[in-house]
Amino acid sequence: MDKVIITNNVCQQLTEVLREIKHDRLFLLCDTTTYSLCYPTIKDVEGISEATHIIIGGTDTHKNLDTIAKVWTEMGNGGGTRHSLMINLGGGMVTDLGGFAASTFKRGIPFINIPTTLLSMVDASVGGKTGINFNGLKNEIGVFNQPATVLIDTQFLRTLDYQNICSGYAEMLKHGLISDMKTFAELLSFDLNNVDYAHLAQMVSTSVEVKEHIVAEDPQEHGIRKALNLGHTVGHAFESFALQFENKPENPQGIHPVLHGYAVAWGLICELYLSCIKTGFPTNIMRQTVQFIKDSYGTLSVTCNDYPQLFELMTHDKKNTAGTINFTLLGGIGDIRINQTATKEEIYEMLDFFREG
Ligand code: GLY
Repeated sequence: MDKVIITNNVCQQLTEVLREIKHDRLFLLCDTTTYSLCYPTIKDVEGISEATHIIIGGTDTHKNLDTIAKVWTEMGNGGGTRHSLMINLGGGMVTDLGGFAASTFKRGIPFINIPTTLLSMVDASVGGKTGINFNGLKNEIGVFNQPATVLIDTQFLRTLDYQNICSGYAEMLKHGLISDMKTFAELLSFDLNNVDYAHLAQMVSTSVEVKEHIVAEDPQEHGIRKALNLGHTVGHAFESFALQFENKPENPQGIHPVLHGYAVAWGLICELYLSCIKTGFPTNIMRQTVQFIKDSYGTLSVTCNDYPQLFELMTHDKKNTAGTINFTLLGGIGDIRINQTATKEEIYEMLDFFREG
């Protein structure tokens, strides 16, 4: 299992980690944004300025074969060997792609993740899922491989805008829902419009622990790790649905591509509703959660004409088996029910609730 260190002094921690993990060459992977905004924070750490810096494009469209080929090429040209070390400094795209590059170069070298977004701190950088998009499918090619260390510097939280705080916070809500009432109640009472960063940092630590415990039990998602998919069956469908409006900003419904966590938050509304009707989740907690999400994230303007497409997108989810749509639902906070299914009628009813609820 990876070692996750939460700190407000990434330079000191990184210095120690670089001394501990012996290496002949050091590679630093950033995207264009993290290279200009976050690299200056670590540039004076011993060994960092002399490392081979590999800079890639910063959006999900760059999470592809061309980019991974560029990274492998620069690692080879930079004299990389099996005893080299990689640092991934960035959001989920950098830690996923960099983790995959490191896991496959010379059959695998160790890597350190330094996540710079809330989403990557509480989710992507922890747990060893690495990979790239391929053939039009997200994260189609990849491996499970744990980072040697994850260094989470909560100071980076102060650089994030409201949307990026909300996006990561959706995964924290998910972690609260699958853990216990105290953790969840604390999350629902937090004011996202007036962020208390010290409090957020402490909740990040709790959230990461929830994920670490689950991943330690089931690193390759054969069973309980599916708990982390709560909100994601519908969330991924919403995300793909919204993406089709990328070059159509004038569409009548006013839909535009959304950050992953927004789709997850809306997916949580839907899957908590399904949990109420199928696995006995308490309606009052579902209503409170829906209110928090609507207040903080707004909504996605789907109409009933969109249901067939959303249903179709759910049938293509990677987590499905034998043609049935797979959901993770809850019987209550922390009462996880994996491998649940729903009929088309139940799914349409759920979408009615999402629109009108
Ligand atoms: N993002 C869910 C997981 O890591 O399993």
